[in-house]
Amino acid sequence: MEFNKIFENNEKWVTEKLSLDSDYFKKLSQGQNPEFLYIGCSDSRVTAEDLMGVQAGEVFVHRNIANLVVSTDNNLNAVVQFAVEYLKVKHIIVCGHYECGGIQAALNPSDMGQLNSWLQTLRDVYRIHRDELDAMTDTQKKFDRLVELNVREQCINVIKIDHVQRAWAKTHYPTIHGWVFDVRTGKLIDLGLDMDQIFGEVRNIYYLTQ
Ligand code: CO
Repeated sequence: MEFNKIFENNEKWVTEKLSLDSDYFKKLSQGQNPEFLYIGCSDSRVTAEDLMGVQAGEVFVHRNIANLVVSTDNNLNAVVQFAVEYLKVKHIIVCGHYECGGIQAALNPSDMGQLNSWLQTLRDVYRIHRDELDAMTDTQKKFDRLVELNVREQCINVIKIDHVQRAWAKTHYPTIHGWVFDVRTGKLIDLGLDMDQIFGEVRNIYYLTQ
């Protein structure tokens, strides 16, 4: 992909959109009303809107390395608060993906500079689930399982957030979902996490407004 090609592509894209609906950008400029907040990996292969087949305006997106929900991340917290309080999203999705470089790095400790503290959250996920993971002899299966367990832990981190808990108490929304994108097949997998049950197990530790 040549750098200059991007602007050519953009012009084509604008023409295409306008040929289907001449008011497309006029409507787009009037505001957004997405029902979904998607928290995913920055990985260039995992294109949020594309893989979900959604249009502009339908999903509010936050991406970082290995789709982490870190309580001191000012960026993430602002995104979640805005999505929950102002956009009133109905669903929060944490989407991991197989073959995630962040997860692979967490499985193979090495000094990676600035990345060390970020990856520490993933190493903590490994530690929490080490009995299950260390019992796995197939390295590919272990890699895939850590991707899934990380999604689960990040979903739990979402329900620790006060903005989410307040919205829950008021409206029973947003619903939290854990997904994995299988980059090997293109399929999106719903991990089927029962967040009510999972939160029930840790409620007395994390529920702030009980
Ligand atoms: Co990744």
